[in-house]
Amino acid sequence: MRGIIKGTGACLPKRAVDNHELARIMDTNDEWIRERTGIVRRRLISEETTVSMSACAAERALENAGIEPGAIDMILVSTVSSNAVLPSTACAVQERIGAANAVCFDVNAACTGFLAALNTGQAYIHAGMARNILIIGAESLSNLVNWTDRGTAILFGDGAGAVVLTAEEGELPVAVMHSDGAKGGVLTCRSPFEGSRSSPAGGGAGADPSGYEPFIQMNGQEVFKFAVRQVPRCIEELLEKCGRTPEEIDLFVLHQANARIVEAIARRLKQDISRFPMNLMEYGNTSSASIPILLDELNRGGRLRKGMKLVLAGFGAGLTWGAAYLEWEV
Ligand code: UT7
Repeated sequence: MRGIIKGTGACLPKRAVDNHELARIMDTNDEWIRERTGIVRRRLISEETTVSMSACAAERALENAGIEPGAIDMILVSTVSSNAVLPSTACAVQERIGAANAVCFDVNAACTGFLAALNTGQAYIHAGMARNILIIGAESLSNLVNWTDRGTAILFGDGAGAVVLTAEEGELPVAVMHSDGAKGGVLTCRSPFEGSRSSPAGGGAGADPSGYEPFIQMNGQEVFKFAVRQVPRCIEELLEKCGRTPEEIDLFVLHQANARIVEAIARRLKQDISRFPMNLMEYGNTSSASIPILLDELNRGGRLRKGMKLVLAGFGAGLTWGAAYLEWEV
């Protein structure tokens, strides 16, 4: 058995913040951001939350798939920016959409998280342990950004995307995933629970001798180099396992981090950039949400036809990276 994507959905916050608006609160400018990243604006939450956007994207995906919430037997949410530590975003989504029969848990593999959740879903379906799975990527990264750090604040955005994965006869699609924890220091966001500093054993409630920094911290150039080196290799590894060539792929749906990264990956694979769709100009880097939001845009925009061959690829904190092959089946 394998899962096929039956439907897609997305949900973006209403509030769009363009580069000019950011330039009013930090030392940056529209020209620099466009040239170095391709980003023009991003959506940032005001009333929305990771849970509300996840539930809204999920409902749209269910409608698109023509599947009732009660038929969903698993909800997987990839996020690093849950509303709450407990309960999981997946359980909160279950309650909101009325998917009473679902098993629910969250996955954290940063910007590779949607692929990790998709592969987990595929494995459950392959093992006969689930038939209809909601896979959601959702982030409120604006809550993790230091709005005085121009090196990171200009990059990120909020949003959610979802797909419904349904069991069908057939072989498990090929996917590859990698992690390198030794290089984790290049992209971090510390937790207030690190060590035992808030327990009586660790020096008393809230005591924080180390100066807790709750924001995303990044060595941008190192992440850039990692992405343009590892992602093309990973896609080549994937295609070799599938017995396909890059020329046979209709669309490369990559994590939307930076237009220069996507362009560099296309160049290294010697493929035309027109087969690497991008929407990061509008939404910035939405981490786990970027691949399903883009998939939904392609799906609803009529760019996906039955039989098309797609490669999805993600990369990010951990470090983590991965790619998945799929044929569009609806
Ligand atoms: O999901 C994965 C998440 N992370 C990523 O995808 C990040 C990957 N990395 C990148 O996208 C790029 O490294 C950045 C967009 C973050 C930065 O671009 P860069 O070409 O690597 O710039 P840089 O850090 O080398 O900085 C170049 C200059 C510096 O000034 P000096 O030292 O040359 O005078 C920076 O201080 O640009 C300056 N700078 C800025 N100027 C205006 C850095 N950020 C800004 C800014 N506005 N926002």
